Amino acid sequence: METFAGQVALITGGGRGIGAETARLLAQHGATVALIARTQAQLEATARQIHESGGKAHWFVADVSDEGALREAVQGALSITGSIDILVNNAGFIQSVGAIESSDPSEWLRTFEGNLKGLYLTTRLVLPSMLEQGRGQILNVLSIAGARAFEGLSAYSCAKAAGLMFTRILAKEVRRRGVRVMAILPGAVDTAIWGDGAGVPDRSRMMRPESVARVIAQMLAAPPDTAIDELTVLPTDGIL
Ligand SMILES: NC(=O)c1ccc[n+]([C@@H]2O[C@H](COP(=O)([O-])OP(=O)(O)OC[C@H]3O[C@@H](n4cnc5c(N)ncnc54)[C@H](OP(=O)(O)O)[C@@H]3O)[C@@H](O)[C@H]2O)c1
Repeated sequence: METFAGQVALITGGGRGIGAETARLLAQHGATVALIARTQAQLEATARQIHESGGKAHWFVADVSDEGALREAVQGALSITGSIDILVNNAGFIQSVGAIESSDPSEWLRTFEGNLKGLYLTTRLVLPSMLEQGRGQILNVLSIAGARAFEGLSAYSCAKAAGLMFTRILAKEVRRRGVRVMAILPGAVDTAIWGDGAGVPDRSRMMRPESVARVIAQMLAAPPDTAIDELTVLPTDGIL
């Protein structure tokens, strides 16, 4: 089924985890994918797998918090593909900052900004071309941590909660101009984001990244007169 044939999807954090699985799935269903992340080797590996399966993938090394590098990446993608029909704002990282009372201000602010800035900058850079063509989809990968309180995760959670309000406001601003804006709020997914240190929750109870990618693809494939605007997706076992 070539659901995304002729469409171009830009995926931040496309080198591994949920972003890479989403790229593979969208490419398998006909999309040309453009991947952005900081680690070239992972981008190359994901793109190579897509090529070997008969799909089309391009990659660009950029930190989504670095406006100059990100602009070059987005312009690079646009110059190769001609348009961006789908933007999946997925890049992010989990960082516990401990209790608020004892948290380190620079670590707190770095974690907050690092999980929010790229969402804003990437959207701002891609949106003009979508508005010009009068169509597009923006799907923001947020987290259940943006809607429910988890001790120690204040900086990450506040960034994801801000991302949710950003999604709602953006949807209001552009929905009548052909751009559909959505957010997915996953519970725990078994990816490298959890690291391998002590205290990592039981991975066997987490969702697989390829399962979350399937849900993302379903949101993107929803009939054009509908919008699955905010979707919480949890492991069958609960959040974890
Ligand atoms: N895994 C979970 O349990 C879970 C649950 C809810 C929500 N999420 C969200 O899902 C998204 C993807 O997470 P994941 O679990 O797939 O994590 P992951 O396996 O660690 O992948 C994260 C991806 O984002 C990229 N990235 C991170 N910071 C970046 C930056 N500043 N600039 C460019 N790329 C950056 C990483 O590549 P580089 O490091 O090479 O840049 C990597 O490709 C995140 O937004 C996360 O908050 C995850």
